[in-house]
Amino acid sequence: MLVRLANGREIPVEMHKTRIVQKIYLKSFAERLKAMEEGGYNTFSLRTRDIFLDMLTDSGVNAMSDNQLAAMITADDAYAGGEGYYRLKDAVKDVLGFDWVLPVHQGRAAEHLLAKVLIKPGTVIPMNYHFTTTKVHFELAGATVLEIYIDEAINTQSKHPFKGSLDPQKFRDVIKKYGREKIPFVRMEATANLLGGQPFSLDNLREIRKIANEHGIPLVFDGSLIQEAAYFIKTREKGYDKKSIGDIIKEMMAEVDIYYMSARKTASVRGGLIAVNDKKYYDQFLVWLPVYEGFLTYGGMSVKEVEAMAVGLREILDVEVAGSSAEFVKYFAERLIESGVPVVTPPGGLAAHLDAKRFLPHIPQSQYPAGALAAGVYLASGIRCMERGTISMERDAKGNEVFADLELARLAVPRRVYSMSQIEFAVDRIAWLYKNRDLVGGLKFVEEPPVLRFFFGKLAALDNWGAKLGEAVKKNFGER
Ligand code: F0G
Repeated sequence: MLVRLANGREIPVEMHKTRIVQKIYLKSFAERLKAMEEGGYNTFSLRTRDIFLDMLTDSGVNAMSDNQLAAMITADDAYAGGEGYYRLKDAVKDVLGFDWVLPVHQGRAAEHLLAKVLIKPGTVIPMNYHFTTTKVHFELAGATVLEIYIDEAINTQSKHPFKGSLDPQKFRDVIKKYGREKIPFVRMEATANLLGGQPFSLDNLREIRKIANEHGIPLVFDGSLIQEAAYFIKTREKGYDKKSIGDIIKEMMAEVDIYYMSARKTASVRGGLIAVNDKKYYDQFLVWLPVYEGFLTYGGMSVKEVEAMAVGLREILDVEVAGSSAEFVKYFAERLIESGVPVVTPPGGLAAHLDAKRFLPHIPQSQYPAGALAAGVYLASGIRCMERGTISMERDAKGNEVFADLELARLAVPRRVYSMSQIEFAVDRIAWLYKNRDLVGGLKFVEEPPVLRFFFGKLAALDNWGAKLGEAVKKNFGER
C-alpha cells in the first residue's frame, strides 16, 4: 500500500509481516570478482551464496503466503483426479472466468503447446512485444513474430502510461499485408516484460480485440503479469480507480480467447496454465498435454504447487497483493531518478530497469552494454540483476548479431521479498556506479550457445575492467 508521509513523500508499506526468513550474505569485492570471472560475466552463472540481493527475476522467487503453504501441506497426491486440480479449476473460473483449464509446468510449456497446436510454418504472429521464450517457441514452429508496439514503447524516457499497447493501425496493416489465413492469432502480453514491464490499457485491449474479431483472429493473452496489468489499469486508466482488481481482470478476460500464464510471477508458485472458454481449443491442447507435461490434473507440476496456485490466484484479487511489486518498483525507480540514474519511465511492473544505452553511452551495442551493466552492478554491490538487451536476442539466420531495441539491466523486485533498506542500498550503489560509469567497459563472447545464449553464454571483460572497477569499489566502501 502506498502511504504519504508527513513530509509529502509517498512510500510503499508492506501489508504483510515476515514469519520465515532466509540468511543472505554480502561477499567481499575480491570474492565477487572471482565469482564473476569464473561465471563468464554472466549473472545467470552466479550461485546464491555469492549474491546479496537476488534481483535476477521475479519468477519463482516470490514470497508465498501462509495460506499457500498450508494448501501445500494438505495437497492431494493423486496422479489422476487430484482434488487440487478441481480447486484450481474453481479458482480460474472465479478469478479469470474460464471454464477449461490445463495446468503446465511453467509459462514456456504453455507457449510450446500453443505453438504446437496453433502455428503452421509460414505464418506470422502479431504481438505488442515478444518474450524470449515466446519468440523461440513460435519461431521453432515456423512462424515469424511481428512486434507492432506503439512508437512510445521504445522511448525509455517517455511518460506514456501504457507503453505496452499494441498499435491498432499497425495491426490493421499487418492483416492487410499478410491476410487473415496467415495469422493464427494475435498475442497481447500483459505488462510487456521486455519493454520494461509496461502495461496496455483496457481501451487498447478492446480495440485490438475489435479488429481481431472483424477478421476472425483469436486473441491470445499472456497473463504472466496479470496482477500488475490490472493494478496499472486501476491506477492509471481513466474511470477505473473505483473498480476492484477482480472487476478489471474480468473486463480484460472478456476480450480473450486463449489465456496462458507463467504462475511463477502472478500466483507466486512454480507452474503455469492455459485457460479457455471454447472447448474446441481445450480439446486440441489436451491431446498433447500428457505427451509434454503430464496428466491433466497436474500438468507437469508438483501437486503441492497446483494447490498453492489455486490459493495464489485468488489472493491477487486483493489490491495490496496485486500492487505489492509495482509499488516497490515505483519507489525504487523514483529514488534512482532522484539520484540522476537513467531508468525506464514510467516505472513498470516486475522490475526497475536501468537504461544501459544512457548509463554507459561509451559502450557500443556490439560490446553488450546491458550485460556489462549487469556485471558492473554485481561487482559494485553484490546485487544480481539480468541483462535484457542484445545478449538476450538471437542471431539472425545468417549468424549476424541482431541489436536489441532496448539495452536494459533489469533489477527485478520479487513480490514481498525485499525491504526498503535493501532497496536503499541498491539505489546507493547504483548511483555510485553511475558516477563512476567510465570504469565499466564492454564484454565479448567467449562461449556462445546457439539459442537463448543469455542463459549459458560465457563472456569476458574487455581490457580487464572488472579488476579496475574493484579498486574503486574498495577505495569507497572497503571490502564490501
Ligand atoms: N511470458 C512472460 C511475459 C514472461 O515474463 C515469462 C517468463 C514467460 C512467458 C515464460 O514463463 O519462465 O514460467 O516459462 N519470465 C521470466 C522472467 C523468466 O525472468 O522474466 P516461464
